[in-house]
Amino acid sequence: MAEFSLPANSKIKGKGKTYKSTSGGHKKRSFKIYRYDPDSGENPRYDRYELDLDETGPMVLDALIKIKNEVDPTLTFRRSCREGICGSCAMNMDGKNGLACTTAIEDCGGGKGELQITPLPHQDVVKDLVPDLTHFYAQYASIKPWLQTVTPAPAGKERLQSPEDREKLDGLYECILCACCSTSCPSYWWNSDRFLGPAILLQAYRWLADSRDEMTGERLDELEDPFRLYRCHTIMNCANVCPKGLSPAKAIAEIKKMEVERAV
Ligand code: SF4
Ligand code: SF4
Ligand code: FES
Repeated sequence: MAEFSLPANSKIKGKGKTYKSTSGGHKKRSFKIYRYDPDSGENPRYDRYELDLDETGPMVLDALIKIKNEVDPTLTFRRSCREGICGSCAMNMDGKNGLACTTAIEDCGGGKGELQITPLPHQDVVKDLVPDLTHFYAQYASIKPWLQTVTPAPAGKERLQSPEDREKLDGLYECILCACCSTSCPSYWWNSDRFLGPAILLQAYRWLADSRDEMTGERLDELEDPFRLYRCHTIMNCANVCPKGLSPAKAIAEIKKMEVERAV
């Protein structure tokens, strides 16, 4: 259930460090970044890094990499593909979840003022901008995200799907499991121990919508639960933040519709 008291040493304390840019340029911007190392026993703090944007790439991830490479190697964050495919650079920028590699610095805060960067909300922090997604991945495994069949495939052939059936997976298969949606969902904040949240429910629907899968009934049985599925109250934060333009809320509504249709 939801915890309403903050764990010890989780509150922001202390002034943090400030790193001024030594560049002579005029296009400077400050990045206020959440710093926390749970192993140190110290409270989290915000450090401020001033960068000359004329010497920095255009995306938030470019700024983070510049800080790590040239200013403060202790800053910790995840990234891999740098093109919105791996989902690892998900974080909260200027109050909104997104991918650092596809979020332009100039699109944050109207292009001016201090740019605040924090980890995805309501998750334990491994270090700095790295959230602990262990529970999120366990929830993903729980929906059995693979094709389940009982009838054998035609000898020596693949299981085929018509173009129309394949189209039903559009808007679902593109999910990169970045967790931007789930960690922006108030229902998930308070009930993530039992509510599967938008990302995992979108993935659950991806398999329910697959014409080749033969475990529809079992999958719906697993989801038919006041918490697992029905904690979604259509607040729509999930669709507002998805960096791939997907609508988990719509997928959740489709699952609810399937549950109702099979009951009549
Ligand atoms: S629509 Fe549902 S899943 Fe999406 S943010 Fe709202 S409550 Fe969460
Ligand atoms: S639905 Fe969108 S925001 Fe949610 S995990 Fe998938 S890609 Fe990320
Ligand atoms: S680094 Fe892969 S999505 Fe941003």
